[in-house]
Amino acid sequence: MTRGRFISFEGIDGAGKSTQHAWMVDYLRRQGHVVVATREPGGTALGEKLRTLLLSDAMHLETEALLMFAARREHVAQVIAPALARGEWVVCDRFVDASFAYQGGGRGLDWKKLEALAQWVLGDLQPDLTLLFDAPVEIAQRRLHAATANPDRFEQEQAAFFEKVRAAYLRIAAENPGRVRLIDATQTPDNINKLLENIIATI
Ligand code: TMP
Repeated sequence: MTRGRFISFEGIDGAGKSTQHAWMVDYLRRQGHVVVATREPGGTALGEKLRTLLLSDAMHLETEALLMFAARREHVAQVIAPALARGEWVVCDRFVDASFAYQGGGRGLDWKKLEALAQWVLGDLQPDLTLLFDAPVEIAQRRLHAATANPDRFEQEQAAFFEKVRAAYLRIAAENPGRVRLIDATQTPDNINKLLENIIATI
């Protein structure tokens, strides 16, 4: 059996990635693919418990990184690797790039420590395609504040934090041109949908 496709969605909070993730899952199912729609942190019963902790409780930045990767370890073992082995498509709302962007870029955790964790937890596993939804921080913050009544621990961060997260994401995109597609998230949803259809046709 051929290996399924693995697509991750990334971007700063408020960039609109989760809306597009839902659209993509629906689109791929309409194309006849078997799709596993999932997210990080989360995606398993244990991972969702870790998500609750991560989004609410203050913690050391290394604890935060380790818990993100602990949730990811479980997610890969229980959900992602088995689905890909069955030839299914995995469409994941955030994956390992988020750890580099948020814990590395945003919090300033040593990139090498994150690379070691990524090597340990993922080995060679990488998404086939990463869609990076990029928007100026000011626009993303405005969208976020309009849509979110009770912001979580990350959403409460200031613009300067998100500038660093965005810069790290853009660095990841520049360093991985074959895997990461940069999407201008300030476009209309219709335009973004058409763009995503074209990108999917090429993978
Ligand atoms: P969400 O906004 O996509 O639901 O993700 C929840 C938050 O978790 C988001 O603010 C980014 C953060 N996050 C990290 O800091 N590191 C990670 O590795 C992941 C997957 C998410």
